[in-house]
Amino acid sequence: MIQRAREPMDRNLAMELVRVTEAAALSASQHMGKGDKELVDQAAVDAMRFTLDSVRMDGIVVIGEGEKDEAPMLYIGERIGDGSDPNVDIAVDPVDGTTLLSKGLPGAISAIALSEQGTMHVPREVAYMNKIAVGPDARDAIDIEAPVSVNLRSIARALGRKIGELTVVVLDRPRHEQLLKEIRAAGARVKLISDGDVAAGIQAAMPDSGVDVLMGIGGTPEGVLTAAAIRCVGGEIQCKPWPRNDEERKRAHDAGLDLNHVYVTEELVSGDDVFFAATGCSTGELLHGVRYFTGGAETYSLVMRSRSGTVRRITSVHNFNLIDKVRARPRK
Ligand code: FBP
Repeated sequence: MIQRAREPMDRNLAMELVRVTEAAALSASQHMGKGDKELVDQAAVDAMRFTLDSVRMDGIVVIGEGEKDEAPMLYIGERIGDGSDPNVDIAVDPVDGTTLLSKGLPGAISAIALSEQGTMHVPREVAYMNKIAVGPDARDAIDIEAPVSVNLRSIARALGRKIGELTVVVLDRPRHEQLLKEIRAAGARVKLISDGDVAAGIQAAMPDSGVDVLMGIGGTPEGVLTAAAIRCVGGEIQCKPWPRNDEERKRAHDAGLDLNHVYVTEELVSGDDVFFAATGCSTGELLHGVRYFTGGAETYSLVMRSRSGTVRRITSVHNFNLIDKVRARPRK
């Protein structure tokens, strides 16, 4: 019998990435409620960086903990992996919602995204962007430049609902006073969150999540990470740079960044093969947080890939005694 050479199995990197977000969530959540957001973040960064080393790739951090001089680990431009294929851009948010987790409040997640090198576009000259995100059925119904009421009417039409049956999630910030007035005047329901617009943006894109739209100004890196997730689940995010002051305006101008440009999902993350994983740190509507039991803990994660559109929900049981033994065993 003729033996055919086996095709190498297509590798779903997101399945490996989930170990990275699990490690970050497990580590960070040990400090839940201690009131120290730096402690939460550091624990997640350390665990994430350590676990990332086990993923075979040639990765470069495009969204991380900041510039090299301000972040010893997961800094922008840091190379991660053993240098073997694939060549990828890496975007991390070890904990989105550090304040939430430090207060023991719901909704903190650990997230990571990968796509082919050079395919993540981060307008990092501005720290914030104005965002609107929806799911697949409303993806053609949004225009960030149109008035809020026009967007809501058009989203409602696309979903076959009344505006009053739409739920819009918005970060609870003074800068959103006018936005909230307009949403309320249009008659939509509002869900205010104190932090964590990555999870909120993913929820807006996921069917039957109870949230239909994300609106408002949030972090630029968080916008790109949300775009990576939306590339996997379908839907659309549009983002427009939102400079905080003249200094950012000048920085953007000097870098040739057009502040009137509207970034759409496929521009923020343009790769053909996007991988995304997130693990809940504190229990929220998108994901359960880390749950401890005697001798271990359970984690809840989302694992997705754009090429196949597969969305996995993974529950993992971590046995601390065995993990400690594995860690103590020297590598061969
Ligand atoms: P951190 O976990 O880094 O604190 O980010 C939380 C977050 O709420 C993001 O989800 C959001 O994009 C951003 O902060 C909003 O920024 P700000 O708190 O400055 O309004």
